[in-house]
Amino acid sequence: MDFSSTVRSREPSATLQLTARAKELQKAGRDIVALSAGQPDFPSPRAAVEAAEKAMRGGMTGYTATPGIPELREIVAAVTSRRRGLEWRASNVVVSCGAKHSLANLLMAAVEKGDGVLLPSPYWVSYPEMVKLAGGRPVLPRSGSLLISAADVREAASSGVKGVILNSPGNPTGLVAGPAHTRELAEAIAETGVWCISDDIYEDLVYLDGPAPHILDYRPGLAERTAVVSGVSKTYSMTGWRIGWAVAPETWTRMAARIQEHTTSNPNSIAQYASLAVLSGAAEEERVAMLASFRARRDLMCDLLAAVPALDFTKPDGAFYVFPRVLSPMGADSSALSMRLLDEFGLAVIPGSAFGAEGYLRLSFAASERDIREGAARLRACFEKGSA
Ligand SMILES: Cc1ncc(COP(=O)(O)O)c(C=O)c1O
Repeated sequence: MDFSSTVRSREPSATLQLTARAKELQKAGRDIVALSAGQPDFPSPRAAVEAAEKAMRGGMTGYTATPGIPELREIVAAVTSRRRGLEWRASNVVVSCGAKHSLANLLMAAVEKGDGVLLPSPYWVSYPEMVKLAGGRPVLPRSGSLLISAADVREAASSGVKGVILNSPGNPTGLVAGPAHTRELAEAIAETGVWCISDDIYEDLVYLDGPAPHILDYRPGLAERTAVVSGVSKTYSMTGWRIGWAVAPETWTRMAARIQEHTTSNPNSIAQYASLAVLSGAAEEERVAMLASFRARRDLMCDLLAAVPALDFTKPDGAFYVFPRVLSPMGADSSALSMRLLDEFGLAVIPGSAFGAEGYLRLSFAASERDIREGAARLRACFEKGSA
């Protein structure tokens, strides 16, 4: 059988592949330290589990409305409106099977064949593949800076790019765009008329005194052509529940819901009730404790990595990743370096090449203190040993 060329030419997710290989080695009895995870390592909040149990026992087990149960859409609209000082309603919300699904729906709804979409670089592994699946053309900024700049947007728009994806705090860098940078970016988006998807999945994992700056804080009018995406995965350690959402102009959410209607129908009914519970405030204690723990682990990892001469990095203000540049010649092929770290030193990290940034590694501090210490020691041992 011949498979679709659109799918055959898509790359598999390098992060998921490497994680799978690390698990295989672990199963075979190897002592593997994993700093590769893209998810919090805490149990999901008790309130989520209890709400799910109640939903199951209460028979909330049938199909729901395609864009999600009304109560959840309402609370997502309220929480997002409060956060941004704007006014969205339930009709502006589509709940999907994780933020990844929300992004895919939004892109399929917005992208015409051949449309250029400006992505951050380094980018989260799925952005370029999703844009291509939607028939579009991923465009990377020329500036070479780790954050999309206003100049990148202007340049891309002048060459016909239709939309831009923003991600701050970002995966894989953990970087948060500052206020001046974000204001200029908002102005460039407003001037050029491109649409915007702001992937805010890490919005609650921020280690600054206040929240991460957002383009809508500076140009609220951009809400007319901006979709914000978030979910419960990272904030509440609920990655497996698969609940995310898009908050966007009704014209956009209607199209996204139409795609969902013909693909997944609705997100899991039980997980929707669990998400409703945590968004209603029933998991605040766990959320705050997780955030404090991530902050402490970030500080620990950064202190340890600062003592590795082969690495150069900016301390991240968000998410749970550090993205060091490898100064040693071994970094020239980050994929080979990651494989060597795994096979020879039992350390799983993600190569920068997976994010379009050769010469870097992504280290996750969604790991125990013991693993962070041991991982840093193994990394150091690898660079001290040098090329094999
Ligand atoms: C930048 C970014 N966006 C979206 C997602 C997807 O989140 P979800 O698990 O809710 O689909 C991830 C998950 O790793 C991510 O890192």
